[in-house]
Amino acid sequence: MSHFLIIWFLRMASSTSHTTKQWLLSSKPTGAPILTGPNATFTLQTPTLPPLRENQLLCKVRYFSNDTGLRKFIQSTVAPDRFYVPIVPVGSPMRSGLIAEVVESASPSFKKGDMVVEFHQGKWSKLVILDAPSCQVLEPLSDGLSLTHYLGAFGASGLTAWAGLHFVGQVKKEHVVVISAAAGATGSMAVQVAVRILGAKRVVGIAGSDEKCRWVCEELGAHACVNYKSPSFVQDLKAATPEEVDVYFDNVGGEVLDAMLTRMKKNGTVAVCGAVSGYNAEEPMKLRNWFEVVSMRIMIRGFIMLDYLEEVPGILKKLKAAAADGRIRLGEGETLVEARIEEQPEVWMRLFSGRNQGKLVTKLIA
Ligand SMILES: NC(=O)c1ccc[n+]([C@@H]2O[C@H](COP(=O)([O-])OP(=O)(O)OC[C@H]3O[C@@H](n4cnc5c(N)ncnc54)[C@H](OP(=O)(O)O)[C@@H]3O)[C@@H](O)[C@H]2O)c1
Ligand SMILES: *[C@@H]1O[C@H](CO)[C@@H](O)[C@H](O)[C@H]1NC(C)=O
Ligand SMILES: *[C@@H]1O[C@H](CO)[C@@H](O)[C@H](O)[C@H]1NC(C)=O
Ligand SMILES: *[C@@H]1O[C@H](CO)[C@@H](O)[C@H](O)[C@H]1NC(C)=O
Repeated sequence: MSHFLIIWFLRMASSTSHTTKQWLLSSKPTGAPILTGPNATFTLQTPTLPPLRENQLLCKVRYFSNDTGLRKFIQSTVAPDRFYVPIVPVGSPMRSGLIAEVVESASPSFKKGDMVVEFHQGKWSKLVILDAPSCQVLEPLSDGLSLTHYLGAFGASGLTAWAGLHFVGQVKKEHVVVISAAAGATGSMAVQVAVRILGAKRVVGIAGSDEKCRWVCEELGAHACVNYKSPSFVQDLKAATPEEVDVYFDNVGGEVLDAMLTRMKKNGTVAVCGAVSGYNAEEPMKLRNWFEVVSMRIMIRGFIMLDYLEEVPGILKKLKAAAADGRIRLGEGETLVEARIEEQPEVWMRLFSGRNQGKLVTKLIA
């Protein structure tokens, strides 16, 4: 090789500036995020990334985790100092969980080509700089399962389902359990964990279509499932819970929660996981049946899965074993959308119109 080529090669290898395309939060919407026009919630920018510092990784994003909870990172009625993670300030890159491939490593624990998962500091960007200590290298899954399950069943969704049912709801075999958003990422794992791992005697899902309900019963193993969009929802829910309910795993809040308060047993527990029905609403949530909490001595307990990170290895072991012997099915538990970075806000917004079954994952394409 000529001297010139060697010098050129060394320059390239130590080159430090990379440009990327990334989405910034440009304004905080009052209702649903706005995808286009002068008041758009997000703006696509092409910044140059700074050089890597020690213990940082330059990574190419492969998959974004599309989570409803990101809506709350933008804006919440909870004051920032009482919120469970830092909020996204206007002018900053939109955050997201992701799976990425290491392109350059300034950490001895990671090498080029490693696939890593990051739950907190990922960004809606083609290239990201991540702090090595908060990344984990992904072990390949057995049976050729896709690594994307580390964002869903073997990631936040599985952990959240487990924490809400076991630690918060304390579900036992003799319990009747109801789970809302039962065909979603968290809910579809919660149904399977309640039925096939914890062995609850009756598990009832609530979801937004008859087709989703069929899947919740036939594939996930729920004993019944009720479509909350049906005009007969309240009667259907009553018919599906003749013995009333010990534990309600609530993903949605709003009218579904209101109806569920009338179905709880005395001393029953509502494990409050989320309230997606209100995330894009301008009106506050109304509960007509709130006095049921007093009358029936209902325990209402919120939780955040980040509080259970120490339990991850144990929980993951149980979930992987259940997947390996077929108790937990991952096949259709994921909606993988191929999209360019330009399309990411629109893909994420599909969560709020129920256009996903199981975990919604974006496969980032060039
Ligand atoms: N506490 C924690 O640590 C934690 C961690 C992760 C997630 N979460 C919460 O878990 C819940 C589910 O999140 P996910 O990321 O797994 O999303 P997901 O369930 O995969 O997607 C959201 C689903 O919610 C349903 N939905 C949307 N708008 C609704 C409405 N107005 N009323 C009732 N249902 C509605 C839709 O299904 P339908 O077709 O059935 O309407 C949609 O598919 C969210 O509340 C989220 O904030 C909490
Ligand atoms: C943008 O927001 C401003 C201020 O809230 C409002 O007056 C205007 O009508 C909005 N424009 C569009 C196109 O929505
Ligand atoms: C409900 O809890 C109270 C207080 O712990 C207890 O005295 C009562 O027996 C419980 N009732 C039922 C039906 O579980
Ligand atoms: C999330 O959705 C966006 C756009 O819809 C997509 O580009 C991205 O790959 C999705 N992420 C995951 C993890 O599905």
